[in-house]
Amino acid sequence: MYRMTQENVPPSPRAVLDAAAVKTAYKRWANMYDAVFGGISMFGRKQAVHVTNHLPGKTVLEVGVGTGLALPFYRKDLTITGIDLSGEMLDKARERVKEQKLENIAALHEMDAEQTSFEDNAFDIAVAMFVASVVPHPRQLLAELKRVVKPGGHILFVNHFIAKKGIRLFIEKNIAWASHSLGWHPDFAMESLLPEEDMQRAVIRPVPPAGLFTLITLENVKTK
Ligand SMILES: C[S@@+](CC[C@H](N)C(=O)[O-])C[C@H]1O[C@@H](n2cnc3c(N)ncnc32)[C@H](O)[C@@H]1O
Repeated sequence: MYRMTQENVPPSPRAVLDAAAVKTAYKRWANMYDAVFGGISMFGRKQAVHVTNHLPGKTVLEVGVGTGLALPFYRKDLTITGIDLSGEMLDKARERVKEQKLENIAALHEMDAEQTSFEDNAFDIAVAMFVASVVPHPRQLLAELKRVVKPGGHILFVNHFIAKKGIRLFIEKNIAWASHSLGWHPDFAMESLLPEEDMQRAVIRPVPPAGLFTLITLENVKTK
């Protein structure tokens, strides 16, 4: 089994938010996350789940599942496993599963998405919504998702990526200093996540509002 390590991934050109900082940030956010971030990002979340619902396969891993905002939208015959680093965010997800009687949620585990305890090829699909810019080593996240998804399965990311030009680029560069309190990186570049060969193969589309977010669908190809 090949595991990408911190030594063999390219450095990410942005401030690193380590696991402890992520836990601290999301412990703070858990109670107000849905109210603050739930609305603006809902279109991207629904779009990612819509694509997932139309892909082949029945087993889905959602990493950085957070408060479980996406969980009610999965097809009922899919089996969903969610993981997150933050116990407080997971507690909210568990409440949601209970309240909405979501019977297709197989498990919600406290686990690092960059290094999971799942077997190789355990899932048909992996989905990471608004997580890639939060983890310390996005390329390691990608490598781990490639490991746990079957060959020919799919990996989806929906995320905000830094603009290439214009006023949005200016704003995003200027609020990057607040990464630690925000719990995500406004200046996150797609190249920090996807190597060139994956960028070429992936289906990449903007999602509303105003193309602020991007949905990436990547068929899984094992390189090692
Ligand atoms: C911006 S929130 C997104 C939550 C959810 N996906 C959504 O769409 O609302 C990022 C989530 O990723 C989690 N996270 C960050 N780093 C992680 C890691 N290495 N492994 C698992 N979860 C992580 C955080 O705890 C947080 O719940």
